[in-house]
Amino acid sequence: MGFLPCISVFILFTLSFISSIQAQQPYIGLATTACSSFDTTNSALGYSCNGLNRSCLAFLIFRSKPPFNTVASISTLLASKPSQLSKINSVSETATFETNQMVIVPVNCSCSGKHYQANTTYFVQNGDTYFLIANNTFQGLSTCQALQDQHGNVSNFGVGTRLLAPLRCACPTKNQTDSGVHYLLSYLVKGGNTVYGISKRFGVDTDRTLEANGLSEGAPNIYPFTTLLVPLENPPSSSQTTEQRPLPPSSPPPPNSSSNKGAKKTWIYVVIGVLAGIALTLIFGMIIFYMFFRISYKKEFDSTIVSSSFEACEKASNKKLDEESRDFLESISDIAQSLKVYTFEELQAATDDFNPSCWIKGSVYRGKIGGDFVAIKKVYGDASDQIKLLNKINHSSLIRLLGICFNGGNWYLVYENAVNGSLSVWINDKGGKFLDWAQRIQIALDVATGLNYLHSFTNPPHVHKDIKCSNVLLDTDFRAKIANFALARPAERQEGEFALTSHIVGTKGYMAPEYLENGLVSTKLDVYAFGVLMLEMLSGKEAPALYSEENMLLVDVLNPVLHKEDGEESLRHLMDPSMQGNYPPVTAILVIRLIESCLKKDPSGRPAMDKIAQSISRFLNASLAWELSKNISEL
Ligand SMILES: *[C@@H]1O[C@H](CO)[C@@H](O)[C@H](O)[C@H]1NC(C)=O
Ligand SMILES: *[C@@H]1O[C@H](CO)[C@@H](O)[C@H](O)[C@H]1NC(C)=O
Ligand SMILES: *[C@@H]1O[C@H](CO)[C@@H](O)[C@H](O)[C@H]1NC(C)=O
Ligand SMILES: *[C@@H]1O[C@H](CO)[C@@H](O)[C@H](O)[C@H]1NC(C)=O
Ligand SMILES: *[C@@H]1O[C@H](CO)[C@@H](O)[C@H](O)[C@H]1NC(C)=O
Ligand SMILES: *[C@@H]1O[C@H](CO)[C@@H](O)[C@H](O)[C@H]1NC(C)=O
Ligand SMILES: *[C@@H]1O[C@H](CO)[C@@H](O)[C@H](O)[C@H]1NC(C)=O
Repeated sequence: MGFLPCISVFILFTLSFISSIQAQQPYIGLATTACSSFDTTNSALGYSCNGLNRSCLAFLIFRSKPPFNTVASISTLLASKPSQLSKINSVSETATFETNQMVIVPVNCSCSGKHYQANTTYFVQNGDTYFLIANNTFQGLSTCQALQDQHGNVSNFGVGTRLLAPLRCACPTKNQTDSGVHYLLSYLVKGGNTVYGISKRFGVDTDRTLEANGLSEGAPNIYPFTTLLVPLENPPSSSQTTEQRPLPPSSPPPPNSSSNKGAKKTWIYVVIGVLAGIALTLIFGMIIFYMFFRISYKKEFDSTIVSSSFEACEKASNKKLDEESRDFLESISDIAQSLKVYTFEELQAATDDFNPSCWIKGSVYRGKIGGDFVAIKKVYGDASDQIKLLNKINHSSLIRLLGICFNGGNWYLVYENAVNGSLSVWINDKGGKFLDWAQRIQIALDVATGLNYLHSFTNPPHVHKDIKCSNVLLDTDFRAKIANFALARPAERQEGEFALTSHIVGTKGYMAPEYLENGLVSTKLDVYAFGVLMLEMLSGKEAPALYSEENMLLVDVLNPVLHKEDGEESLRHLMDPSMQGNYPPVTAILVIRLIESCLKKDPSGRPAMDKIAQSISRFLNASLAWELSKNISEL
């Protein structure tokens, strides 16, 4: 381990000679709320991409405010992970925060274009404007300018429209990294805050915070609902965000900016260097010790390695939970007869303890069990209906449930893994990924046969109720598998009769009119959503983007193709440009006719899934023949 002292000496050496750390990301005060001014030279659109790395783990401070006052709701709003968020705030995943409590939110921050941002998805509420979204919902963690930059200058969008909201985060610059800063925290300024007080709270030198924000020395003005970057050596902890700690006096003395500053600073950096050197030596030592320890004593000492108090506490109560879990599993043994029951430890081992590198999306992780990849989904609340249904179905177009686990009051469902991820990625992500015509038709056929099975061959017949492209997964060969049966329910009635529900759930843009208006549930809901899905696949646009204005009917998108003289031209206009015209126009028109019938306002006018599958099967044959003749003519 002889290299360790060398490293610390090197760091010490480097640090002592940095005489001044330059401004990193300018704090621009209220300019972030000036929605009409569009000055792209400042950081209103986001902090500039000047870091050492193009992506990093960053932290945001959010103040809990109903309805965003639980681990789950805050994680969803800010694209964080409930497990990480609960851990860093030392609370359980089901916790509710007191109003106005500071919540640390870990996010994945990365460069997109010139700016750092963490992407999150926001669904427009009634009366929203960019300013209200940025200031009142995101509390200043996003800005109206950034939202406008992303989505253009529109004054009103439909309720439920999906917006990508860029959150303000940043990665440390080379200079900061060199001086031991590993994370930047976007602190949400509150009335009465000072740079000194904020720095003190997080144990950071005020000068460094000032420098990180390009602020001059002294006591600059900072404003509520703006972000101040706090440069951190270690991840923040909940002890720094609890309000009980008395804050420093109301107007703290600004650090002295006396004349012999330069010399004084050098000494400060030497001291910091020495401390950082010592800390690094210790950390390296600990890491090496830990690795050694782990390899030699893995089995016996696993439970003692867990460091954070929350996890330790969870471990202690594991015994009780295991008993609960056993009872619970026994009570549903008839359901779980053909499923494997995994222990939580097996899932931890499969996912490297739910390591972020295994994260897929939402509460889904990729894991490796017995050499095979699986997808592990944590389900909040009761999943027994879902498990019952999944255990019954066996069809190559419906995702297969391999096993289950019950731990700490939550279900974990272990699914077969679909290597190519969700269809929505292939529809939206234009990063060079696209599907050719025949692949799209094959996917439509797979989804149709899967739904037909669900509608006609499960007992009782079921409605999926949440068909959309993010719930369709693709395997190695781009064959589709329907996933997420959380909303599925028995169709109960015969064809033509309808069940009523007063609780409307589903995804805006995919929900059939009769369901939205009257809560009618039938297999024709899935037929409507399937029509939307096919339209998305053909056009390469996601449902919300297909509606050019509020209250328009989706079939209006098809009318020009089907009922206008210049149908061919309209068709070219509608089709996904990434196909570059490589589709058989005659078949494409037939597909669009089928979509039109699926989107009929009157549910009884929509075809049944078996008829749809038959039609698409013919379209697939025609498409394959077209592809073959095209290839031959190219030879
Ligand atoms: C980093 O520090 C050096 C001086 O040590 C300075 O010249 C340079 O501009 C700084 N870079 C940034 C990005 O602040
Ligand atoms: C930057 O990247 C390097 C190597 O990929 C990594 O070791 C380091 O931790 C990263 N720094 C930050 C701040 O994420
Ligand atoms: C975030 O969104 C922007 C704009 O759509 C995109 O360019 C960028 O790649 C996204 N970043 C991540 C990490 O997904
Ligand atoms: C910004 O939002 C907060 C609530 O989050 C509100 O109290 C404040 O008045 C808003 N600012 C403006 C200028 O509307
Ligand atoms: C946005 O549009 C409104 C009117 O529709 C206009 O007054 C405003 O100047 C526009 N803003 C920008 C930045 O283009
Ligand atoms: C700051 O400097 C003034 C004189 O310039 C001195 O009286 C005061 O004690 C100094 N404060 C600190 C915290 O060093
Ligand atoms: C974080 O973002 C980077 C860059 O886009 C990506 O490679 C990585 O998979 C992301 N990690 C998580 C946990 O989302």
